[in-house]
Amino acid sequence: MTFDLNPANDCLAGKTILITGASDGIGRALTKGFCEHGAHVIALGRSQEKLEALFDEIEACRPEAITIHPLDLATAQTEDYKLLANALDEQFSSLDGLIHNAALLGARSPIEFYPDGDWTTLMQVNVTAAFGLTKALLPALARSEDSRLIFTSSSVGRKGRAFWGAYGISKFAVEGLMQTIAEEVGNISNIKVMSINPGGTRTAMRRDAYPAEDPQTQPTAESLLPAYLALFSAEGQKFHGQALDARNLEA
Ligand SMILES: NC(=O)c1ccc[n+]([C@@H]2O[C@H](COP(=O)([O-])OP(=O)(O)OC[C@H]3O[C@@H](n4cnc5c(N)ncnc54)[C@H](OP(=O)(O)O)[C@@H]3O)[C@@H](O)[C@H]2O)c1
Repeated sequence: MTFDLNPANDCLAGKTILITGASDGIGRALTKGFCEHGAHVIALGRSQEKLEALFDEIEACRPEAITIHPLDLATAQTEDYKLLANALDEQFSSLDGLIHNAALLGARSPIEFYPDGDWTTLMQVNVTAAFGLTKALLPALARSEDSRLIFTSSSVGRKGRAFWGAYGISKFAVEGLMQTIAEEVGNISNIKVMSINPGGTRTAMRRDAYPAEDPQTQPTAESLLPAYLALFSAEGQKFHGQALDARNLEA
């Protein structure tokens, strides 16, 4: 599958897109890249300090391109998602994209010794938060003429791998959530639902997972931007219901 590697600078003009885990790594790079391509991004993250730094950086060159929304997905409840949905409804007529990007890596250990606390927190952030946020924001996504609901997966969420514990299993759940919603909304709305595996990328999570690896051997988070922009193009509609690999999209 090929797509335009040089999309127009304003290819996301008029679109409002919420990205979770926007304060660092891939989410931060996507937030900056999407703002640079004309979108208004609602950047959700747990660190107010990091979000404010991102806000200042973007506001300096793209005024009013970003709204920040501090929220810790490890403790967020249904009410938090409703408040967010209401705030968005007041400010925007619809939501054109929701990218579930935030995730925890957790312990790397055999299941027999996997820490119970890590399991619970990780499932909350990686799976339950995606469910709650999706549920609250589906009406806003449905009001868009052409929206995307994007889940972030991993190769270990498509084929089980020893010692990846709750992380890999949470990504299997994310794939299940994606497939279920894709079937539910496919024929009754303009929402296109898909999952994407970014592949090895030079971020804090990658460094935690592979501490002995030279980070320079991994592509930057910024290099993923063309693949994610492709999902938001008109052509991207055809990916509905699919489990995608970002690096294959670049081929
Ligand atoms: N990097 C890779 O090689 C790779 C490969 C395959 C899949 N992925 C997937 O790609 C996505 C992004 O990964 P990444 O490498 O960019 O990870 P990262 O550098 O660790 O960034 C993760 C982001 O999620 C946020 N986050 C974590 N817990 C949160 C919580 N409780 N509430 C709100 N936000 C929270 C982090 O916030 P803080 O800034 O506060 O830490 C950070 O902004 C993840 O879904 C990951 O599973 C990554």
